[in-house]
This record gives sequence, structure tokens and C-alpha cells, in this order.
Amino acid sequence: MTTTPDEIAPRRPRLSRRYVPRAEPTEPGPPVQAGSDWSNWSTYDRAELGFRDHWYPAVWAHEVGRKPVPVTICGEKIVLVRDDRTGAIRGLHDRCPHRGVPLSLGRRQFPGTISCPYHGWTYDLADGRLAAVITDGPDSPICGKVSVATYPVEERLRLVFVYIGELRADGTPPPVEDDIPAELTQNTLVLGGRNEIRDGNWRFAAENGFDEGHAKYLHNTALWRLFKVMPTWNRTRIVERDGWLIRVQDEVHWEAEFPGVGTFSNRRWWKRMPLPDRPGRNGDANPVIAALDLPGFVSIRLPGILRVAYPQFIHYEWYVPVDADHVRYVQLMVRFETGWKAALFGAKYLAAIRWLFHGQFTAQDAWMVDVMDSPPERLYRPDLSLTAWRKHVEDSDVVVQTVARRGH
Ligand code: FES
Ligand SMILES: [Fe+2]
Repeated sequence: MTTTPDEIAPRRPRLSRRYVPRAEPTEPGPPVQAGSDWSNWSTYDRAELGFRDHWYPAVWAHEVGRKPVPVTICGEKIVLVRDDRTGAIRGLHDRCPHRGVPLSLGRRQFPGTISCPYHGWTYDLADGRLAAVITDGPDSPICGKVSVATYPVEERLRLVFVYIGELRADGTPPPVEDDIPAELTQNTLVLGGRNEIRDGNWRFAAENGFDEGHAKYLHNTALWRLFKVMPTWNRTRIVERDGWLIRVQDEVHWEAEFPGVGTFSNRRWWKRMPLPDRPGRNGDANPVIAALDLPGFVSIRLPGILRVAYPQFIHYEWYVPVDADHVRYVQLMVRFETGWKAALFGAKYLAAIRWLFHGQFTAQDAWMVDVMDSPPERLYRPDLSLTAWRKHVEDSDVVVQTVARRGH
């Protein structure tokens, strides 16, 4: 089972996102202003590998079969494999305790086991126990004395969820439902999604998701928005409810005159006005979405889940820390429908949404997350969405993942 990490894992050198304290400038450049670092959010500042004691989505469940699949979550290397005895997906630390070879390179020699490719140490998938050592004979004395750590794994929403953290006193993890929005576990639904590793730290991806300022400017060139007007600027407030931070728009301005510069509007004759910002208030809102009674359409919660609700569907994003410079970006588009409406959505997802929204639109986000270099930073009024999120992390009972597991 997972235990306290005991050694510092080697990390690949970090690139431009390295946080450099102002007191010890090591890079050439202009002087950095006071208050432009993340010292106000010290927990968040340390959380480049995310938080322990949470369930995170990894790969799609259908991708895990006999062949071992390596994944990295919060810096921890894990091998996922399907147990041919039960059909359940198992998660093991992806490191053979003998000499540290990745078990994901191993062979499926016997039922319910994985064998390291180097000397054939063979582990039981259910509990990680060393069950046989092929190159040391049936009476190998080390058998039963060594185990590889295992990770709790569950399949939900067609994804494999892996628990990173400590077990409870009774030896079980908290329920996976704790880390999945309740409406996704309590209703019948149909979903389409994309799951990919992107460049950049998970915090930049999460902040980009909840960022109030960028959508209407960065994305006003997106094909997904070709026929819909985007506002010019808004006045926003952040409301906290049930562990979610919700962006509430108090004012929406479709055009503006900027003194001495000119006017700006995204209005065009071929674009129609978008739906109201309160998704449940639309007359024909789906009942599940209406019942959420969201005061705004974008919300975020720990450990890094974004919800963008429209009257008929909801888009979710999970920002799963991989390592300091990579994030697993899981996008789900969900409709709470059955029958022909569900089938129609499936076709629409494959034909358009997958390419336009989960493709080109969010590729613009990926581009920004990759190229941004912050802190230092100089925040502006709409960044209250970012600072509310950081403060929410500070005020929450989180356990920062400081080092990744290395031993067994
Ligand atoms: S390193 Fe795995 S069996 Fe030797
Ligand atoms: Fe965006």
C-alpha cells in the first residue's frame, strides 16, 4: 500500500517555470516587483506535484488489458494491468524492488502475476507480494519477504481512477466518489472525452481553466465560437458552495470604448448571442443541470476539477499532476440523457465537439499553459478568479505531495 515517501525522486530538470526567490536572482532580467511571487499562497506554491489523499483519473479503462500500462501521477510511477483472474484493474508501483527495473516492461508469465523482465521476480497483482523468483528456483528464500507497493484502483466514467495517499485506519482508501462531482455518480449519463498529457505544470492548467479573463479574448478566434458572440469584459464575483468555487458574472459588456484607443466588440452579423450565464435558468435546461442551480457556469474544486455547465450539457476538465512540467488533461463532455438523445449526442461528439471544442478550442489553452512563465506576475482585476482558487487551496485541508515515492 502507499506509504510516506522515503526518498527524493530524481526529477527531470525544470525549464522556464522554475520559481526563483527574489532574494537570490539567478537569471538576468529586469527587477521583480514586490508581491509578484506566490509567497501569499505558500501551500499552493509547494504543490507542484499536487495533493495526496485524492483519487485521480489516469488512462481510459479500455486501454488497460494484459499489457502493462505505465502512468505517472503526482510524480509517482505506477503500472496498471488487468488481473486475468478477476478482470479488475490493478495498480502497482512501477519499480521492481530487486534492482529498480520498471515492472511495466515485465511479462505476464502466470495468471494474476507480473514478472520483472530482468531476473523474473514475479509479483501477485492483488497484493504486490513476491510470489515466485523464476531464476532462483521454487524454493527461493526471498519469496514472501518482499512486496511491491500497490495502489487502490477503481473504474468510473470509463476511466481508471488511482488513489494517491494514505489509507484510512481500516486499511481502505476513502470512496472514489469523494473525488468525482456528485452529479456524475448519481445520474444516468452519456459522455465523450479526450485524455492527453500536456506540457506545463498542473496549476497553470487549473488556473487557466478558472481564469475569468482569457476566454473572451484568446478564444474569440476558435471555430467552436465562430457563430457565438463573446463578451468584451465582465465584472465577476466568486462564490463558494459545497467545495466548489463558482464564477458569477455581475456584469457582461459586449462592447466597450477604450479612451484614446478605440472600440472593441466581438459582435458580428453572423454571430448569435450566447445563452444566459446561469445554465439552470434557461427554459429548456436539462433537469439534472437545472437542479444544480448554479449561479454561474464555470466552477472549480479540489483536487483540480473544472465544471463548465451549459443548459443541455456539462464539460469537465481534470488537471492531474504528472510531474513538475506535465499535466494529464482529461476532458469529458457529459449529457444526462438516455435513448435516442444519448445516441445523438454520441454522434455529435465524434463529428464535431471532439475536434472543435476538445480539440482546437482547448489547444489554445494548452498553448498558453505551455508558453506562460509565472511567477513573477502582475495580476489585474479579473484575476480574482485565480487568487480565490489559490486562497481556497490555502484554506483547505490539503496534504501537499512534496516528493515522489522511490523505494518499495
Ligand atoms: S530487477 Fe527486477 S528481477 Fe531483477
Ligand atoms: Fe480557455
